[in-house]
Amino acid sequence: MATTTPIRLAVLLSGSGTTLQNFLDRIADGRLVARIMTVVSNKADAFGLERARKAGISTHVVDRKEAGSLGEFSRRVFASCRDADVDLVCLAGFMTLVEVPDDFLGRVMNIHPALIPAFCGKGYYGHRVHEAVLAYGAKVSGCTVHFADNQYDHGPIILQRTVPVLDDDTADALAARVFEQECDAYPEAIRLFAESRLRIEGRSVRIVP
Ligand code: GAR
Repeated sequence: MATTTPIRLAVLLSGSGTTLQNFLDRIADGRLVARIMTVVSNKADAFGLERARKAGISTHVVDRKEAGSLGEFSRRVFASCRDADVDLVCLAGFMTLVEVPDDFLGRVMNIHPALIPAFCGKGYYGHRVHEAVLAYGAKVSGCTVHFADNQYDHGPIILQRTVPVLDDDTADALAARVFEQECDAYPEAIRLFAESRLRIEGRSVRIVP
């Protein structure tokens, strides 16, 4: 059965916030039943923060260097999420490692613009991912939505969507093709979570009817 109560989200980002904008657009037209309670960034000048402010969403900046340790940085990031009383934390181009505290285990998702476990991990973000796919000569790419753990692009996979890599592809063209899939895949994973249909079993995520 479809949920009608909006799921409460925190969005964590470091850059231009295209995924945040996709959430906002889909919330506005009713395709995503959610409320974004807070947007947290490690970069004070991230354009995604502008998008959030424009949409009337509270924003927080947590500077990685100022925090000192990874533990303190993560504590500050998740304190903002806890204060906003969110159900789910969505990493949306959050380009720095964060440790998931116990009370958020299984409640943090990430999207990666490739088919994990290929072309992922530290250093693989944004355009670099698509450039690496082209340089390797892969014939397919895509996107992966997964639960986050304490390693880059590593936790249990919720869903993946594939796209072809074309002979004359550029990183821009491939990125656009993958992003089109991201725009559907992430809201779909959020919807399944909101409907309590995702069961984590070790490295696998079962989608229950
Ligand atoms: C996400 O859509 C995802 O493709 C990518 O960043 C995009 C958002 O960035 N995430 C990763 O590469 C994570 N490894 P943006 O806010 O700059 O548009």
